[in-house]
Amino acid sequence: MCGIVAAASQNNVVNILADGLKHLEYRGYDSAGIAVIENENIHSYKKEGHVSELTSILGKDLASNIGIAHTRWATHGKPSEANAHPHISENSIAIVHNGIIENYIEIKEKFFKNIKLESETDSEVLAHLINFYAKDNNILDAVHSALKEVKGSYAIAVLDKNNSSEIIVARHGSPLIIGVGEDSNFIASDAHALIEHTNQFIYLDDGDMASVSSSEINIFDKDKNSVNREIKKSNISLGSNSKNGFEHFMLKEIFEQPEAVKATIQDRIINNSVPKEILGPSAEKYLDGFKVVQIIACGTSYHAALLAKHWFEKLAGIPCQAEIASEFRYRKHAVQPGTLSICISQSGETADTLSALRQIKEEKNYIGTIAICNVPESSIARECDSTLITHAGPEIGVASTKAFTTQLVALMLLIIVLGKNFEISEEIEKSLCEQLQTLPEKIKSTLDLDQEIAELSKIFSNKEHALFLGRGSHFPIAREGALKLKEISYIHAEAYAAGELKHGPLAIVDENMPVVAVAPNNVVLEKLKSNLEEVKARGGKLYIFADKKAGFKSDEISQVFEIDAPLNPVAPILFTIPLQLLAYHCAIIKGTNVDMPRNLAKSVTVE
Ligand code: G6P
Repeated sequence: MCGIVAAASQNNVVNILADGLKHLEYRGYDSAGIAVIENENIHSYKKEGHVSELTSILGKDLASNIGIAHTRWATHGKPSEANAHPHISENSIAIVHNGIIENYIEIKEKFFKNIKLESETDSEVLAHLINFYAKDNNILDAVHSALKEVKGSYAIAVLDKNNSSEIIVARHGSPLIIGVGEDSNFIASDAHALIEHTNQFIYLDDGDMASVSSSEINIFDKDKNSVNREIKKSNISLGSNSKNGFEHFMLKEIFEQPEAVKATIQDRIINNSVPKEILGPSAEKYLDGFKVVQIIACGTSYHAALLAKHWFEKLAGIPCQAEIASEFRYRKHAVQPGTLSICISQSGETADTLSALRQIKEEKNYIGTIAICNVPESSIARECDSTLITHAGPEIGVASTKAFTTQLVALMLLIIVLGKNFEISEEIEKSLCEQLQTLPEKIKSTLDLDQEIAELSKIFSNKEHALFLGRGSHFPIAREGALKLKEISYIHAEAYAAGELKHGPLAIVDENMPVVAVAPNNVVLEKLKSNLEEVKARGGKLYIFADKKAGFKSDEISQVFEIDAPLNPVAPILFTIPLQLLAYHCAIIKGTNVDMPRNLAKSVTVE
């Protein structure tokens, strides 16, 4: 992944680059760098660590009208100053790169056998390759020729010492947009980095290149034909990057869930019915002909897919598979004719999900593709036949919270529409719509558990391991709870379907093992109670998040947290909330970087 920002302006660009990097830190934060042209020379500054480390070394009087900058998430080579971007070749060409050059070793062998590289990165090789071609070509042609040698994915911005007015950019498989300004033009991995300067954006197509100066933008396709790409106005608001008084983005985003859910259902439920028009005109292509559903996603979005599988099959009688995108893309599939594919992705740029989608589009047995996505301009949203946007608003915390709950809400809307030709009757539709409409209030009441959970975290945060248990449609919620805890508190957590406990995990249960259970008042409640007795009998400590009608009582072994989650299909969404809070408070006590946990990044645009 990594974040790129660049600018060419009549004014000084240094602050634009530094501020842009701060907004892109969610894409990677292990090192950062900047290169500008000043007095016909390239000057570069790099630092290991967060963007603030870099900005602390930038002199107050550093000024330039053109520059490129980068915040890194390490793929090739450890986080270090040497591996940080920009990479510079002979003080002539500087590049920032997002993606992976898969054949960089072959390129090094072919062109630069005897050059000693300064870094361990694939990106440095690309800098040398562009410089190699720039000796006999203008910089645009040099970049074009270099990229013809490259296998892999890239978004790049290139500075040429001999051309101090233009930045050359290109993308293939990694996102890159151009921000259009008055006496400045900008480049970035996403619009948030630039929203303080412009709301007009050009979304480059895969394979596009462009030359960008303060007054001109010229775009070319992969064959170097000049092309026009539409300028689009973004709806992102200026305040959307702020913490609004919360200590962390993650906490703010947890507390934003009632509003985010409301926004996601708004105008999509009319008189307790969900019109098929929410899927747009392309839905006609698949609505009457699809027979089965296949969902592809990664990380938290995959957990949303797992819950949706339960809903599709239970509520609508539609056969549904849920697949991890990185697994899906490298195995042979037996696809049933009439398969409708759904890609779930907060960012809409996750490389594995995007590649899986592109494979699906090549295969004849798929009848259509639908995106559940939080970013309307993203690649996945643009490449699917229909897109159901989750109106979560920007999610900055690396650990996904409101994106997850709004994905579930969007999936439920989708199931209602798709299920009408199957088992969703008017009565079921009405009941599901009512449940969705009461959800924001119910989430609000569940958030009242915050202080109680903060207390629990004082005990919990000392633990090194934790087990999360759930059954049926609540098992994906237990998995998501374990993932949240791992991601931000670094406590090793595993989730099991409670009935599986006796087939192995029970062996690790003792008085040091906290066991978190998700306990709705449903048909498997009694089964779950028996599973929890198995834990008690081994001295395991139980923390039970239970519906208030489930009949659990706290005792010396178990602590019960009551949730008002009436027995209905949307209940799993409510059980997500306390598990998010548990992870958050444990992380606070452990003093981890909640919004930017170690080794992770929000948008994973590399394999
Ligand atoms: C990263 C993020 C996760 C996210 C996953 C999938 O790993 O840290 O929070 O769930 O990517 O991202 P997507 O944008 O496709 O939902």
